[in-house]
Amino acid sequence: MNRSELAGSVIEISRSALEQNYAFLRRKIGRDTLLSSVVKGNAYGHTIEVFVPLAESCGVQHFSVFSADEAWQVKQVASAGTDVMIMGSIPDEALEWSVEQEIEVVVFEADRLERLLAAAGKVGKKARIHLEVETGLNRTGFEPAAFDKLSGLLRSNAGRWELKGICTHYAGAESTGNYLRVRRQIKRFRNAVEELSERGVRAGRLHTACSAAALTYPETTMDMVRIGIAQYGFWPSRETWMHHYLKKPGEPDPLQRVMSWKSTVMSVKDVPAGDFIGYGTSYLASIPTRIATVPVGYTHGFARSLSNLGRVIVGGHRTAVVGLINMNMMMIDITEVPSVKRGDEVVIVGLQQDQEISVSSFSELSQNLNYETLVRLPAGIPRVVVD
Ligand SMILES: Cc1ncc(COP(=O)(O)O)c(C=O)c1O
Repeated sequence: MNRSELAGSVIEISRSALEQNYAFLRRKIGRDTLLSSVVKGNAYGHTIEVFVPLAESCGVQHFSVFSADEAWQVKQVASAGTDVMIMGSIPDEALEWSVEQEIEVVVFEADRLERLLAAAGKVGKKARIHLEVETGLNRTGFEPAAFDKLSGLLRSNAGRWELKGICTHYAGAESTGNYLRVRRQIKRFRNAVEELSERGVRAGRLHTACSAAALTYPETTMDMVRIGIAQYGFWPSRETWMHHYLKKPGEPDPLQRVMSWKSTVMSVKDVPAGDFIGYGTSYLASIPTRIATVPVGYTHGFARSLSNLGRVIVGGHRTAVVGLINMNMMMIDITEVPSVKRGDEVVIVGLQQDQEISVSSFSELSQNLNYETLVRLPAGIPRVVVD
C-alpha cells in the first residue's frame, strides 16, 4: 500500500490541465518571454515536491520562491539546469549557501547587496542578482535616491556578480481600482531602468508581471513574467476573468483548475426525524435523514465555518454538510441520493459527472480567497499526479 491509498482524502494534480494553462499563458506572453513559475506557499498548496517536477516536465526551467527554505525545497526536487530565484526572505547566514547553489536572489537593500557580494567573494562564485526597484507598492525595493550608492557598490565589486534582472511588483494589478497606480508604476519602472542604465547598470532581464499584470497589461510582460495563480488554473480576480471573457465572449475558460480534492464515504446511517446530527444542536433532522460521514475535517483544511453551509459532491449530486465540521470528519445529507454507499467517491473540490465545486465556492463562497484557501491546504494530504 502507498500512503495515498491509506489516506482519508487525496489532492489530485492534473498534468493535462497544467499543460493547457501553460499553453494559454505562452500564447499571452509570447515565445521569447521567460516564464518563471511562482511556487511559494508550497506551490500554492500543490506542494513543491510534486509540482516542481511536473512543471519541469511541461517545459518550465525557472522557479520563484519567497524564502531560502522554499529554495532549498525546490533544489531537492529540481533538475540540475533549473534556475531558482528567492524573491523575499533569506537569512544572512544563508547568503554563501545561495551563491554556492547558484540561486538567484532579489536584492532590495544596499546592506543585503554588500553582504551578498562579500559572500560571493568568499565562495569564489558570482552572485546572481535581481535588483528590485520601488515603483509604488511601498513594500521592498530600491528608491531612485539609492541608485548612485547601488551602482558604486556594483562597480567596486566587479567580477563578483551577474545582474540577472531588474524587477518590481505591482500594487494590485488584479483590480481595476488600482489602474492608475499600476500605470504610474509601469512608468516609474521604465524611468528607473533608464536611470540605472545611465549609471552603467544593465540587466539581462526586466520583469514586473505577476499573473494579473501578464493577463491584463500586455506591456508588463517584458523579458520575464512571474506567474503564480494562473498556472494553477485560477483567474487572479473576477475582473481579470471578465477582462479576458469580454474579448472572447462565449469561449470556454482557457484556464483549467489543476487540483481536485477527493475523499470517499466512510459510513452511512439513518437518523430519525427530531434528532440532532453531530455535536450540539446546530442541525436538527426535521425529516428522516440519511447521512454519510466523510473523513475530512478542519484538520485537513475544511474550514469549521463551513458547518451547515459547505457542499460536497457524491453520487453526482451536490450534497449539504449537516452539523458541525469535526476535527477529522464531516457529515453530509444523502437523503436525496440513498444509493450512496461506503467507499463511494466524494468530491470536495472538483468535478463529478456534471457537478463541479470550485475552490472559490469551497472557500467560504468567496472568489477572492483562492490564494488563501490553496496555501492553507495541509501538506499532510497526499498529492498525486493524474492525467
Ligand atoms: C513578487 C511577486 N511576484 C509574483 C507573484 C505571483 O503572483 P500571482 O500568483 O498573482 O501570479 C507574487 C505573489 O504574490 C509576488 O509576490
